Amino acid sequence: MNSLRNSQTWQALQEHSQQLPHMRELFATNTQRFNQYSLKQCGLFLDYSKNRITDETLALLMQLAQESQLDAKIKAMFNGEIINNTEGRAVLHTALRRPTTDSLMLDGVDVVAEVQQTLAKMEQFILQLSSGTWRGYTGEKITDIVSIGIGGSFLGPKIISESLKPYWTGDFNCHFVANVDGAAISDKLAKLDPKTTLFLMSSKSFGTQETLTNTLTAKAWFLANGGTQADVAKHFAAVTSNVAKATEFGIDAANIFPMWDWVGGRYSLWSAIGLPIALLIGMDNFKALLAGANEMDQHFYSAPLTQNMPVIMGMLSVWYSDFFNAQSHVVLTYDHYLRGLPAYFQQLDMESNGKHVTLNGTKVDYSTGPVIWGGEGTNGQHAYHQLLHQGTALIPADFIMPLQSHHPIGEHHAQLASNCFGQTQALMQGRTYEEALAELANANITDEQKQLIAKHKEMQGNKPSNTLLMDKVTPKTLGAMIALYEHRTFVQGVIWQINSFDQWGVELGKTLGNNVLDRLNQTETTVDLDSSSNALINLFKQGSI
Ligand code: F6P
Repeated sequence: MNSLRNSQTWQALQEHSQQLPHMRELFATNTQRFNQYSLKQCGLFLDYSKNRITDETLALLMQLAQESQLDAKIKAMFNGEIINNTEGRAVLHTALRRPTTDSLMLDGVDVVAEVQQTLAKMEQFILQLSSGTWRGYTGEKITDIVSIGIGGSFLGPKIISESLKPYWTGDFNCHFVANVDGAAISDKLAKLDPKTTLFLMSSKSFGTQETLTNTLTAKAWFLANGGTQADVAKHFAAVTSNVAKATEFGIDAANIFPMWDWVGGRYSLWSAIGLPIALLIGMDNFKALLAGANEMDQHFYSAPLTQNMPVIMGMLSVWYSDFFNAQSHVVLTYDHYLRGLPAYFQQLDMESNGKHVTLNGTKVDYSTGPVIWGGEGTNGQHAYHQLLHQGTALIPADFIMPLQSHHPIGEHHAQLASNCFGQTQALMQGRTYEEALAELANANITDEQKQLIAKHKEMQGNKPSNTLLMDKVTPKTLGAMIALYEHRTFVQGVIWQINSFDQWGVELGKTLGNNVLDRLNQTETTVDLDSSSNALINLFKQGSI
């Protein structure tokens, strides 16, 4: 029986959660609240004062972290222990960004040295393409890279590339194809020239249906538009941990970039999966991205829990999930280039912590990973912020914003910042009925109407948010931020005693999907499944409803 809920600390947190004053009062009675509950680390600044916390809250949360042996679990991950217990794997995405001077032995191999060899191969590949040493089958330089991959083999490369658009060198155009929907690859191929295009197939397993199908279609297009089998080596490369399958598929062995089973897909942008990023921003900036993440790693590894940014953010998320029944968490990026980050954090967090059994297989009796969602500020204010302010659900929010813009035009950035900070203030303080009524004092409506409208204008407030700032979005600060969220996710998994690094839940859908595909390819009517699946399959076969 899982003892987590039975622990004294858990029960103390339960009781404490009912006793907290409104955040308005917490701010009114403590002018030092911001200074007490903010932290600067690794080029990031975290204001966590607009949370439902007091010193007692934090003390209890840190006690829960200590009782969960968090510090020891952090060291175990960094040191390559087999913490992914269901797949018998170490979890070493942190090794992908350790400095060249480090070394870490795993099964008799120095993984840091292996990582450095792959980084050197990446650098060489980029140099060959940009210098024209590597050319297409007609002798023209490669200008367009098509990155084919899905999940962690797509989200990291695409979203981190977008986030760093101000750093693009202009050497290449990069296109991303993920979905198996024919529209995804067709849209891209329609604009490309096979003579100057290179396809980079990214798949850790080299077994993902969408990626294999898209790559086969790309190869067929290449061969149908002037390329020959002999030219494939100039126009196809792969990133995978399954080199044998990639070679068998027809990718030239010299064009295969290895990755390791101790890197989870959703933690892999730091590996050769991040090649599209490096192709776009250059290897020096890619190394700055790695350095930023490594700085956060060192902070996470060594800082005391109470001064540890990923620990604070992770424990706050546990606080709301398990003691306020928050079912989702929203990430709002007040920066146009960072608009894709919520989707990146979705896979990172939900595929890691969307679990229902603990490491030893016991069903949990508490909440685990929340739904992660979000979008670009200020756009969300004109779409879903109404629910954040006056809905019945408690949705903790992270507001992320650089203090300096890459496009300092007129008052734009000041207005963006004013919206960001104004939103967190409104979420925290709300608006009382009395305040709403006073605002209507001079309205040309009856007193009865004023009372009615005031009830509708009242806002509960006491809605928690973190504000995460950096001077500017650079490869280094972005690297630190991504690592911050990776470790935030890890912290939660440790408290919930779950395995954050497998993803058994995605297997059944794939298997049943393949069974359906077999039936879609049969002419006879399908009758052996449930009535809904039979009907849907048969409707597809008839091609009309
Ligand atoms: O099905 C889920 C998943 O395995 C993700 O964890 C992964 O990022 C994605 O599919 C792609 O996997 P691969 O890189 O092996 O093609």
